[in-house]
Amino acid sequence: MVKPDAVRRGLVGEVVGRFERKGLRIEAMVLRRMDGELADQHYAEHLTKPFYPPLREFMTGGELVAMILVGDNAIAVVRAMCGATDGRKADPGTIRGDFSLSNRENLIHASDSVESAKREIALWFPGHG
Ligand code: TYD
Ligand code: MG
Repeated sequence: MVKPDAVRRGLVGEVVGRFERKGLRIEAMVLRRMDGELADQHYAEHLTKPFYPPLREFMTGGELVAMILVGDNAIAVVRAMCGATDGRKADPGTIRGDFSLSNRENLIHASDSVESAKREIALWFPGHG
């Protein structure tokens, strides 16, 4: 998911282009806003964390691009391309490492397991598959 900061900064093409050039295939894609209810479902694991209220504010504050990427070992490959959560610590060459200086506005969300990918796909692309 290309987060609202990346959309606002005009980095959709940069981010999506990296995944395409890597060889991942875009199976579905949508530009839309996340409302608070969807944010709470999407980030269910983080609901009680102290960083959640400002994260919710940020994620519901603008359009984002959700997509399904398909490819060999896609989950681990995409996570590696995103880099560490905190853009200040993410390695250069990763998306967050190259474009973010924030632990919150870090440009991109990526599913961290097959289970979370299935759960998130059901939230964002109801009827898929
Ligand atoms: P998390 O799932 O830990 O990171 P990732 O996106 O790398 O899987 O956290 C989800 C999002 O919450 C993260 O992308 C940015 C935000 N966040 C904060 O704002 N502050 C924090 O201290 C952490 C850990 C995350
Ligand atoms: Mg996570």
